[in-house]
Amino acid sequence: MAEPRADHLYRAEGLTRRYRNGGRDVLALDAVDLSLDRGHRLGIVGESGSGKSTLVRLLAGLDHPSAGRVWFEGTEITDLPEKRLGFLRASVQMVFQDPRSSLNPRMRVSDIITEPLRSRLVRRQLTDRVDQQRRLAEVLAAVDLPADAGGRYPHEFSGGQRQRIAIARALAPDPEVLIADEPVSALDVSVRAQVLNLLTDLVAARGLTLIVVSHDLMVVRHLCDQLAVMRQGRIIERGATSSVYADPQTGYTRALLEAVPRIRAEGR
Ligand SMILES: Nc1ncnc2c1ncn2[C@@H]1O[C@H](COP(=O)(O)OP(=O)(O)OP(=O)(O)O)[C@@H](O)[C@H]1O
Ligand SMILES: [Mg+2]
Repeated sequence: MAEPRADHLYRAEGLTRRYRNGGRDVLALDAVDLSLDRGHRLGIVGESGSGKSTLVRLLAGLDHPSAGRVWFEGTEITDLPEKRLGFLRASVQMVFQDPRSSLNPRMRVSDIITEPLRSRLVRRQLTDRVDQQRRLAEVLAAVDLPADAGGRYPHEFSGGQRQRIAIARALAPDPEVLIADEPVSALDVSVRAQVLNLLTDLVAARGLTLIVVSHDLMVVRHLCDQLAVMRQGRIIERGATSSVYADPQTGYTRALLEAVPRIRAEGR
C-alpha cells in the first residue's frame, strides 16, 4: 500500500478559464476551488455548458487556466511547459466520450494502446523498462478484449469494445488517476452498464483515483463516492454522493436529480 499523504492529490484555487468565442468572452470556469484526495471517485455533474469538460481538461494538464492555480501531488502544474509535465502525463490518463473520434482509425489497436508508453516524456517517468507487448496483453485482458485484438483496427469493433480499447490505452502507463468525460454517453444503452461495471471493477482492483463527468446521474451514483455539481462555471455543491442525493442543498441539484429519466432518454 502507498504511504498515506497529508497533502491532497489535487488542489485548485480560483481556477478560471475564459474563451474568446466569436468576439465574445465566455467565462467557462469561474474561480473554482477544489481538492481531491487519493483513492476517491469524484463525479462532476451539471447542465451542458456549465464548465465540466473545461475543468477536467485543466486537471489533466491539457489546457492552461486564465487565472488561478492547480497542484498535482503538491507540484504546481498551472503553467508548466509540456516538457516538464511528464509526471502528470504518466500519472493521469483520460477517457473521452466518443471512441470513434478519440481512436485513430489508421492505427492498429496495439499501436493505439501502447502509444502512451512510447511518449518520451512518459517513458522517462517509468522506473522500470516496460515490455510493451506484455503490457498490451495485460491491459487487453483487463478490459475483457481478446488477446488478438491488437492486430485489428478500431472500425472492426463495436462501440462498447472501442471504449474498452480507449480504457486499455488509458491503463497502459499504469496511471494513478483516470479522468473520464462522459465515458458511456456515446454508447448504446445496452452496453453502458457493461462498461460502467468494467470501470467500477478496474478502479477498485487498481486503487485508481477517478474523476467522471456525466450528464447521467445514475452513472455518477454508480461510480462515485463524491459529487460536485457545476453551474455557470462554478461548483455550487460538493459532498459525499450519498448525502447530496439524500439531501440536495440547492434547487438546481434537486432539479438535476429529478430530471434523470429525461436526461437518459435524450441519450446524453
Ligand atoms: N474551445 C472553446 N472555445 C470557445 N468556447 C468554449 C470552448 N470550450 C468550451 N467553451 C465554452 O465554455 C463553456 C463551458 O464549456 P464546457 O465544454 O466546459 O461545458 P460542459 O459542462 O462540459 O458542457 P457539455 O455537458 O455540453 O459537455 C461553454 O459556454 C462552451 O461553449
Ligand atoms: Mg463537456
